[in-house]
Amino acid sequence: MQKKTIAHAGHETFKGKRVLVRVDFNVPQNEDLTISDDSRIRAALETIRYLKKSGARVILVSHLGRPKGTNERYSLRPVAKRLSEILGEEVKFIPTVIGEAARAETNNLKDGEVALLENVRFHSEEEKNDAEFARELSAHAEIYVNDAFGTAHRAHASTHGVSKYLKPALSGFLLHKEIKTLGEILHNPVRPFATVIGGSKVSTKIGVLKNLVGKVDVLVIGGAMAFTFLKAQGKQTGKSLVEEDRVDFCRSLLEEFQLHGTKVVLPDDVVCAAELKSGATATIYSADSIPADQMGLDLGPKTIEHIKKELTVCKSILWNGPLGAFEFKGFEDATYALIDLLVELTHKGAKTVIGGGDSVAAIEAKEVNPELFTHVSTGGGASLEFIEGLELPGVACLEALESVGSSTGHPQ
Ligand code: 3PG
Repeated sequence: MQKKTIAHAGHETFKGKRVLVRVDFNVPQNEDLTISDDSRIRAALETIRYLKKSGARVILVSHLGRPKGTNERYSLRPVAKRLSEILGEEVKFIPTVIGEAARAETNNLKDGEVALLENVRFHSEEEKNDAEFARELSAHAEIYVNDAFGTAHRAHASTHGVSKYLKPALSGFLLHKEIKTLGEILHNPVRPFATVIGGSKVSTKIGVLKNLVGKVDVLVIGGAMAFTFLKAQGKQTGKSLVEEDRVDFCRSLLEEFQLHGTKVVLPDDVVCAAELKSGATATIYSADSIPADQMGLDLGPKTIEHIKKELTVCKSILWNGPLGAFEFKGFEDATYALIDLLVELTHKGAKTVIGGGDSVAAIEAKEVNPELFTHVSTGGGASLEFIEGLELPGVACLEALESVGSSTGHPQ
């Protein structure tokens, strides 16, 4: 069901109003606490700018990391500083989350001003979705906007509980774009539609794999999880990571995909080593004869060519999870070749959507501009749960759009 965005509500809704905006500013930091990647801050700019233009008093709330209680290491102060630099004006940092002092500051905001509250996870009540804490948090504002797609799979006080107290509860532009893009590729893709699933464990992707049955034309399985599938096919996997308790699941899943006419691409050849170590001596083996003392750590050149052949004809490609142990030197080729291929296919008109923290980390490690793909999700766990077909609590609690009309939900 489509959710009402701030554009559907219109500028007039926000004039002079205090708006509590849940953003996901859970950004990576360097040792000295400077921000090493500000893309999540930039991703929230469209919503912040729209609300400012409306004359709203914008009160941003976010978590950073997983602190246990108050811990300066996880303060959002450096984020307020970076956001001020990007916006070109002061973002007031409020060093507490709830209470009279914080409320006095948010009450004093002028139309168009922006403030950022301290890390909401300094309060354990946040993750418990405590009703009283949510009520106190809601006392900052009159309207609620959720733009934290990366945290939309959490039913926390700031992503879910506050929506009971603040009406309307609306979607920001980032959340809207993420849901729309992931939803379209999953439920209404231009065909042929391929999904590339990688990562180390089948057990973390069971929901995703099950939800893809009957939806995809091509399924590429890479990463260490491919070895459990190879084992299910009776192949010799050597020392490769195999989840023995998932072998039967993989076997029946392969049968289901076959029944639906999906082309499943599994490794033809594999780059192996005796141990998982950067620069370890690597040898390429056929995927059905990995020696007992070797483990598969990347897909081999034949498999890369096979993947290229299958994906090149596809019009929609969804990628989640690296194809090899790309963090270790010598085992990055398949993942990097996939990134290059997806850039090329996007350029030629295919729709490419990437979700999951590890795939995004691979794009960063290869230093490829994320704008060269159709969409790179800002959510790791959230995009995974969405692809699994699960309802995201941070989305479910928002107001539904009753009549769509000609409105797109995008800013005007
Ligand atoms: C993320 O980085 O995936 C989100 O910010 C959610 O963080 P969490 O897994 O600590 O809830």
